[in-house]
Amino acid sequence: MKTIIEPFRIKSVEPIQFTTREQRATLWEKAYYNPFLLHSDDVLIDLLTDSGTSAMSSLQWAGIMKGDESYAGSPSYYAFKESVQSIMHMPEVIPTHQGRAAEKILFSILGGKGKCFVSNTLFDTTRANIEFSGAEGFDFVCEEGKHPGIPAPFKGNMDTKALEQFIQAKGAANIPLCIITITNNSGGGQPVSMQNIREVRSICDRYGIPLFIDACRFAENAYFIKLREEGYANNTVREIANEIFSYADGCTMSAKKDAFANIGGFLAMRNSQLAQQCRNLLVITEGFPTYGGLAGRDLEAIAIGLQEVLDEHYLQYRIRSIEYLTEKLVAAGVPGMRPAGGHAVYLDAKAFLPHIPVHQYPGQALVGALYVEGGIRGVEIGSLMFGKYAEDGSLVPAPLELVRLAIPRRVYTQSHIDYVAEVIIEVFQKRNELKGLQIVEEAPLLRHFTAKLKPIES
Ligand code: F0G
Repeated sequence: MKTIIEPFRIKSVEPIQFTTREQRATLWEKAYYNPFLLHSDDVLIDLLTDSGTSAMSSLQWAGIMKGDESYAGSPSYYAFKESVQSIMHMPEVIPTHQGRAAEKILFSILGGKGKCFVSNTLFDTTRANIEFSGAEGFDFVCEEGKHPGIPAPFKGNMDTKALEQFIQAKGAANIPLCIITITNNSGGGQPVSMQNIREVRSICDRYGIPLFIDACRFAENAYFIKLREEGYANNTVREIANEIFSYADGCTMSAKKDAFANIGGFLAMRNSQLAQQCRNLLVITEGFPTYGGLAGRDLEAIAIGLQEVLDEHYLQYRIRSIEYLTEKLVAAGVPGMRPAGGHAVYLDAKAFLPHIPVHQYPGQALVGALYVEGGIRGVEIGSLMFGKYAEDGSLVPAPLELVRLAIPRRVYTQSHIDYVAEVIIEVFQKRNELKGLQIVEEAPLLRHFTAKLKPIES
């Protein structure tokens, strides 16, 4: 059969609240033109993130009941640890309340002034934690990854030449860690190939730099390797994931993505000395090492989710549903990231709205139009999120102006996706009417979460 179906039945449903276009125009203004400031019950289809928004399975809910809430030595911790180790094969497993808590601990230890962290593309919280420690983060995504409209199988790959040149220029002693983000969220949810991971590993070996994986979407990345990389078609996704982690010294994980959990994360690593330092920080910020900021029930949900995500029927449906939406947009001429990413559709706001200059945040203007037109909430991944100011106060824009529509796991059906396509195409037809925005208030770090904006009337 050609039709790929959702590999689940629905046992419990949540109603969606409908609003009119007029109501949404007012709500958008009241939210200061920032999707993070909207109330989520005023959103029809919420594509703000795929993080913590998964529908848990009946097995996971059963795990929630089973969760043991002992302060120390809970069996739920051991179930969690065993599940992580069956995939990552790392001796040290440290639970945290979410991915950024793992990052905060790791970079508090390895970071500091003068240190440089290298990556394909650091996610915003990762970069923020690096910078908060006083260190700096440097992205070296491959050339293909810089051009949203040009398709290539592994646009999340690292530019290994640029990486090596940077290491030679800065000196390996100043580079405590290399981080590969799989899939590359800020670069369009694009996968990294096994070959690239292997090459980065050998560069890291040559210079004595440890390699960590930001593993949030490891299963989606592994499935792309199975589909697209020569020699992996007959491997299971589990085998591919095992091989990915075999090249790493450790990983940070947000269980809110590929572990189908509503909260949670962890650090896993081989170096027991570093793990001890992490645990020392963990007890003062997160909790005792066998629960680390989570309830026993959360640990059970993660343990089960990590195994469920390796189901290839699920991954086929997951990757296909993003591709399905992307194909509809391509057919209508809507500019965006090609090929489809693993967890989200990315619109290219620069090409979508060429009449809005980058310092007027075309991505945010597009986010607003999608909300007002159809009640869809997306997020800007461009100069509002990653822009910096030069000494003269002018904006140093991000390399790409994208709008991400992240698809929560196991939540929306095909007709929801058809509706999303219809709204985007409607906005595309009216694109010339959209106006740019200016910031009226912002925070020094992660400003996109709280920034207040207003339209530029011209
Ligand atoms: N790394 C990547 C690649 C991520 O996408 C995220 C979160 C994190 C780390 C941090 O994890 O949220 O559990 O603290 N990404 C979410 C998103 C927020 O919407 O893409 P966290």
